[in-house]
Amino acid sequence: MLTHERSVSHHFRGGLILLLLAVLAAVPARPQQSDQPKATPQSSQTSADLWWKHAVIYEIYPRSFQDSNGDGVGDINGIASRLDYLKDLGVDAIWITPMYPSPQIDFGYDIADYEAIDPQYGTMADFDHLVSEANKRTIRVIMDWVPNHTSDQNAWFLESRSSRDNPKRDWYIWRDGKGAGKPPNNWQSWFGHSAWQFDEKTGQYYYHHFYVQQPDLNWRNPEVRTAMYDVLRFWLDKGVAGFRMDAVSRLFEDPKLHDDPILPGKNAFGDPNIQHKYTDNLPEVHEVLREVRQVVDKYPGNPVLISEADEPTIEDLDKMYGPNNDEVQLPMDFKIADVNKLSAPEFRKLLDEIEFNPLDGQPYFFFSNHDQSRTWDRYGDGVHNDQIAKLMAALLLTTHATPQLYYGEELGMRTTTPTRIEDVKDPVGRTGWPKDKGRDGERTPMQWDDSKDAGFSTAAKTWLPIPPSAAQYNVALEERDPNSIFSFYKHVIALRKDVPALRNGSYVAVNRDDPNVLAYLRKTGHGADSVLVALNMSAEPRTVSFRLQGFGVQGNSLQVLVASPKQASDQLPLENIQIAPFGVLIAEVK
Ligand code: GLC
Repeated sequence: MLTHERSVSHHFRGGLILLLLAVLAAVPARPQQSDQPKATPQSSQTSADLWWKHAVIYEIYPRSFQDSNGDGVGDINGIASRLDYLKDLGVDAIWITPMYPSPQIDFGYDIADYEAIDPQYGTMADFDHLVSEANKRTIRVIMDWVPNHTSDQNAWFLESRSSRDNPKRDWYIWRDGKGAGKPPNNWQSWFGHSAWQFDEKTGQYYYHHFYVQQPDLNWRNPEVRTAMYDVLRFWLDKGVAGFRMDAVSRLFEDPKLHDDPILPGKNAFGDPNIQHKYTDNLPEVHEVLREVRQVVDKYPGNPVLISEADEPTIEDLDKMYGPNNDEVQLPMDFKIADVNKLSAPEFRKLLDEIEFNPLDGQPYFFFSNHDQSRTWDRYGDGVHNDQIAKLMAALLLTTHATPQLYYGEELGMRTTTPTRIEDVKDPVGRTGWPKDKGRDGERTPMQWDDSKDAGFSTAAKTWLPIPPSAAQYNVALEERDPNSIFSFYKHVIALRKDVPALRNGSYVAVNRDDPNVLAYLRKTGHGADSVLVALNMSAEPRTVSFRLQGFGVQGNSLQVLVASPKQASDQLPLENIQIAPFGVLIAEVK
C-alpha cells in the first residue's frame, strides 16, 4: 500500500496542474462522453469550481461537542478550541445546529430570537471569534436556519397570541376549531398527537408541525418572509458561508384545511398512521427556496444552501435544485442515508438516480445526524461493525457527492439510547416510549479521550451521559492507531482532496450486476488516472474482476491507494481480486 505521504505529494503536483487548468478555463469542459458504453451514463462536472462541491462538511451538535466552562453542556468556545482537530481531520466547513436563544424544548430548534446567541452557548463575541478562528484555518461556518416554526417564547409569537387583532396575528396559523374541544382538522404533529393547540385567551387553535411549543410561521404572509430573509442577511453579514435549512418541505399547509388521509395501523405515539399530504411538500415551497437563493446569491463567496427535506421520491429530491438550478445547491439525500441495509444493488440504484439528475445538481450525502441512529449501529451487523464503519466512510467519501459527517462518526461513536424513561431528555422519547425512545442516543458527548467525561467536560454530570464505548473509541486513542476508524476517515478525506479523480472525477458504475460488491470509477477526463472503488457489502470474501476498456480507461493494473483490510500487495491485476468481508479497495487504474 502506498503511504499516505507518498500518495499525497504525488497527487498534490497533479492537483496543482488541474487547479491551474480549472482557473484558466472559466467553465471546465465536460468529460468526453463518446467513449462510454451507451448503457452506462456518466455524471459530469459542469460549472465553475465552487467550494461546496469539494467541501467535507461536518455537523456539530453544540451541546455535545466540547464544554469549555464545566457546566456539562457544550458551547461555542468549546467548538473554537477544537478547530485544529477539525482542520487536521480535513474538514472544510462546519454546520452548527441552532445556538440561538431557546427554551430548549427541541434543544435549539425552538428559537426565541433569531439574531442572538443563547447564553448557555456563549456570547455574540464568542461567535464572531469562532468564525474568525475558523476562517483562519479555511474552515467555513454554516448556520442552521429554522424557517418553519419559532419557539412559543419568540416575541413574534407572544405578540401574535396576545389578541386576534394584533398586527402579528397572521404571522402564525390561527384557525377556529370545529366546536368545543374539536381542532380544525385531523392534522398530526410529527412528534405525536394533534398538530393544533387551543389557546384559551383568544379562543383559537394554532398549528404546530412539531412540538406544541413550536408554532408554525405563516409563509403566505409577506412580512414573515421579509423578517426571515433579514435573518439570513444578519448572519451573512457576519461572514457565515451558508445555511442548512431546517424542515423546509413543511413551510406550507393546505389553506382549505383538508383532512390528511388516514393509513392502516398506529404509530409509536398511539395515533393512527397518517399521510402528511396537506402539510408537506406543497408547491409554494419552491417559490420560497428561489427567494432564499436570491438573498444569499447577493453575497460574495458563493454561500451555500443545504435543505433538510426527507423527499419521498427522487423526482421530489431533484426539484430541490430548482428548475434553473436556482434553489438549493445541496439537497440532503435521505434516500441514500436511510437504505439501512448493506445492499450493493440498492446503493447502486440510488447512486444512479441522484448522480444523473436532469439538472446535473450536486448530490449531498450523509449517513448520521442528530435525528437518527448513528451509522455504526444502523449499518453494523453486530460482528463486523468497525469494518463496516470504514466501508460506510469509503462510500460517503469517494462518490462525487459532497459528504457530510456527523461529529464522532469518524471515531465509530455508537447510539447510546437511554434505558429508563426518567433519563430521557428529548420530549419525543417520552411521548413515544418505549416504541420511540427519542434522539438522545445519537446526541451523546463527543469522545475525546478515556477520562471520566471523555475530555468533553469537567462537570460532575454531563447533560447526556458519556457512553461506555468512550473508553475504546476516542480521539486520543484513535489518532495513535493507524488502523482506527479515525485514521481511515482522515486518510480517505485526504485522498478525496488530493487525488484529482476523487476530487473532480465523474462517477461511473462498473460491474453493475454484482449483487455483493458495489464498484465504481471516478474519472476526470483530463488525462489523470482514474480511481476504482470496490466495496464488498457482504459478510463473505468476494473475488472481483474488472473490464475497464469499454469505459475509456487506460491501464491494466491497480495501484492501491487504500485497502481495508490491507491487500497482499500495492499492485493488483484487474482480475481475480479478493476482497474480505465488508472490505474496501480504493485504487488508481494504471
Ligand atoms: C428538524 C431537526 C430536528 C427538529 C425538527 C423540528 O428535523 O433536524 O432536530 O426536531 O426539525 O425543528
